Amino acid sequence: MPYQGRMKNFYLTTAIDYANGSPHLGHAYEKVLSDVIVRHMRMKGRKCHFLTGLDEHGQKVQQSAKTAGINPLDFCDTQAAKFEELCKILDISNDDYIRTSQPRHVKVVQSILQDLFDRGEIYKAEYKGFYSARQEQFLQEKDKIDGKWPEIFGEVTQITESNYFFKLSAYQPWLIDYIRSHEYFIFPRFRAKQVIEFLKEPLNDLCISRPKERLSWGIELPFDTDYVTYVWFDALVNYISAVGYGTDTFADYWPADFHVIGKDILVPPHSVYWPIMLHAIGLELPKSLLVHGWWLSSGEKMSKSLGNIVNPLDLVNKFGADPFRYFLMREMNVGQDSDFSFDLFLSRYNSDLANDLGNLLSRLMNMVHRYCSGKIPAATCEEDFEKSLKDQAAETSSSALELFDGMQFHLGLDKIFSFVRSVNRYAEQRAPWKLAKSSDTKDSEILNSTLANMAEALRLAAVLFTPVMPSVSERILSLLGAEKAELYSGLTEFGSTLENRPIGEKVILFPRPE
Ligand code: ME8
Ligand code: MG
Repeated sequence: MPYQGRMKNFYLTTAIDYANGSPHLGHAYEKVLSDVIVRHMRMKGRKCHFLTGLDEHGQKVQQSAKTAGINPLDFCDTQAAKFEELCKILDISNDDYIRTSQPRHVKVVQSILQDLFDRGEIYKAEYKGFYSARQEQFLQEKDKIDGKWPEIFGEVTQITESNYFFKLSAYQPWLIDYIRSHEYFIFPRFRAKQVIEFLKEPLNDLCISRPKERLSWGIELPFDTDYVTYVWFDALVNYISAVGYGTDTFADYWPADFHVIGKDILVPPHSVYWPIMLHAIGLELPKSLLVHGWWLSSGEKMSKSLGNIVNPLDLVNKFGADPFRYFLMREMNVGQDSDFSFDLFLSRYNSDLANDLGNLLSRLMNMVHRYCSGKIPAATCEEDFEKSLKDQAAETSSSALELFDGMQFHLGLDKIFSFVRSVNRYAEQRAPWKLAKSSDTKDSEILNSTLANMAEALRLAAVLFTPVMPSVSERILSLLGAEKAELYSGLTEFGSTLENRPIGEKVILFPRPE
């Protein structure tokens, strides 16, 4: 093959999960959403690079390790195994998994710190004030609500200590201007208002160090070994350390196309610290922060302290990864919050998957075996019912892809599954089981055409939902005698691609739960 030059990857990252917690529905959602976007882009023909990982440093991890009586790295090894297992069982197609304890990451964090220090962007000063150990954050009077520290800060103490500060404040006007003039930087756009609101108050410089006597589990400052790096300054750098910042292949990845994050970590880390850090080291900003909402449980955020966490592994073990992925993508309007309930999951599973999709497949397979000796027949006649099915196929195909492009996965899936229901209606209208009783040649032509069109329509639907349900799609396509869908190109038009293909043996794709 001739040398083609290097191609910029479509580069997408997720937040790196905090090693102190256990995987929950929020983590699962963020990975599935990211995976669906990447799979969609790959099917459009883009070369992609998909990064996720684990955020390992900081006070809470140090404390948990201590409680467990092991060293923090061993603790993180166990946690990493759990989170990587989550990726595996959810069928996440990430290309890399970064852990912030890895040398490739530590090296880059230290080189950035040294560079900023050498250029006077980081300075040492004495800090006197309030500190929340739970949030590992310095606080100010203005953080109080009604004269009290909000619950989330836990115990707040007054401390005096010398620390290193990064000159955030100098970049405030630049940042405001940047956000105002880059419409796609924050998606959905309404979230940008929140950032602009935050930037109305003068920024304080960011304290980027923690004295080792208080916290030792962190990345040592290269210019002062009595300190480690503040966990956010460390964690954010994963997005560039993982793709070789400082090496000549870095340009194949950066700037990232999407940082996918939850709304709780937009302000200030991803919309203030990170853009300013990048700007200060002379890098372009990521093209877009894709900010998703929260999964709630009866209106409240799922959290460890509220004890209302849904363990995604339970659902996946019971129903498989694809139904779970379908549910998350079908139910959540990207950017908004959504309430999780088991009943809602079951009703989607039963109605959309077992009934509409599962029944279409099984009645088609039955009839092809019964009436056409197991081979998909040719579509030879076209009347109004067929015309209208084909029109709907064309409309579904173009609008679903467009909705996926715009991150409207719930609407795109709605289109695809409405189409599946129409195919079932078409089967009812044509009623091949009645035609089979006739000896008229016209009737048998219609019967054949009906089965051919049902198969082709099902093929098309399976191609379109591949990014969301990759295994289900592959199984359906293989049962129809088709190849797995790698690219949309050539596969999203209604044709007669399946003529004469042998159909598989009957299976139940979505068994009814007990
Ligand atoms: O924030 N619904 O890690 P994390 C939807 N280590 N998303 C949720 C959620 C919920 N109920 N709960 C959490 C961290 N998330 C940092 C990130 S990035 C350089 C460092 C999302 O494990 C949350 O918004 O607390 C975040 O995007 C991701 O899960 C990891 O959260
Ligand atoms: Mg969190």
